[in-house]
Amino acid sequence: MFGEQKVSYSGVQPSGNLTIGNYLGAIRNFSEYSEKYKTFYCVVDSHAITVRQVPVELRRRTYETLALYMACGLDPEKNTLYVQSMVHEHAELAWILNCFTMFGELSRMTQFKDKSARHADNINAGLFTYPVLMAADILLYQTDVVPVGIDQKQHVELCRDIAERINQLYPGTFTVPEPIVSKSGMKIMSLAEPTKKMSKSDENTNAVVYILDDRDTIIRKFKRAVTDSGAEVRFDPEEKPGVSNLMSIYSCFSGKSLEEIEREFAGKGYGDFKLAVGEVTADALAPVQKKFYELLADKAALEAQMKKGAEEASWYARRTLSKVQKKLGFLQVR
Ligand code: TYM
Repeated sequence: MFGEQKVSYSGVQPSGNLTIGNYLGAIRNFSEYSEKYKTFYCVVDSHAITVRQVPVELRRRTYETLALYMACGLDPEKNTLYVQSMVHEHAELAWILNCFTMFGELSRMTQFKDKSARHADNINAGLFTYPVLMAADILLYQTDVVPVGIDQKQHVELCRDIAERINQLYPGTFTVPEPIVSKSGMKIMSLAEPTKKMSKSDENTNAVVYILDDRDTIIRKFKRAVTDSGAEVRFDPEEKPGVSNLMSIYSCFSGKSLEEIEREFAGKGYGDFKLAVGEVTADALAPVQKKFYELLADKAALEAQMKKGAEEASWYARRTLSKVQKKLGFLQVR
């Protein structure tokens, strides 16, 4: 809560081409809060450097992620859209929160365990304290709700623990946030290994549908998607993880319930079903892609937006940081 207003906050890393997992699990749900909440949606470039990035690509993806936010329907007049590294309070609050976060807590984070296994040659301290920077993002804005995919829920729960710990020592410091995980799109799985999350860093690009894939590519990828033995379109994530994942995607893009989909494809084979999933996905993404390329063509306008967003965000971030510094006993001689 900032004053009387409830706050929604979330972020996406510009660390790869964004996938339909990012779209259905997160970005698509952001605009739900635009009317009634004060909303902040951030391009978290500081998080991205916990694994090595190529600077020109990081720059390009930072523009692209902002343009995608807008193409997915986030109006910059109604939402504060900004780039994390342009608001230095994030790094400052993260340091303070580091001093209230336990080594054991961070060691238990599943994303840290996964990423340190995948990047065994670069298990840097930033990768370990990544959730603390994420907590700083959220707490700086006195956030009430954090719309995320299920893989980020554990990080938001840690953020709650940190906020509660600090509130106990220094009452009234932070709003304690709640993760909001959309039921249908919470975890979109890989098309090649449907027991694994669809991830923008997957090396097998056929396993991943990107928001910017063209129609033919989308349809081809779904045609090749791994299904299960049998021929029945039935939702059963345990026994039929491949088909169930495709059903979730179809349901998200078409608005049809899982039961409706089962009825629609009763007696039809996987071939018809996969084609339908490809078509509905391509149809839904086409207007997003059109808008995206229009926005990306005007770099100056995107930069103006980054500036405006950073100024707006800084105003809120400064207020919280200064409150925390005062509570901790830092002098504020200006
Ligand atoms: P990131 O960049 O990995 O993903 C962005 C958002 O997309 C969701 N997501 C998915 N949802 C469903 N199915 C999938 N296959 C899938 N893949 C990704 C993620 O859950 C996330 O919501 N640490 C965060 C970024 C972050 C953040 C924050 C989020 C930094 N600060 C503050 C919320 C609040 C991350 O790495 O997301």
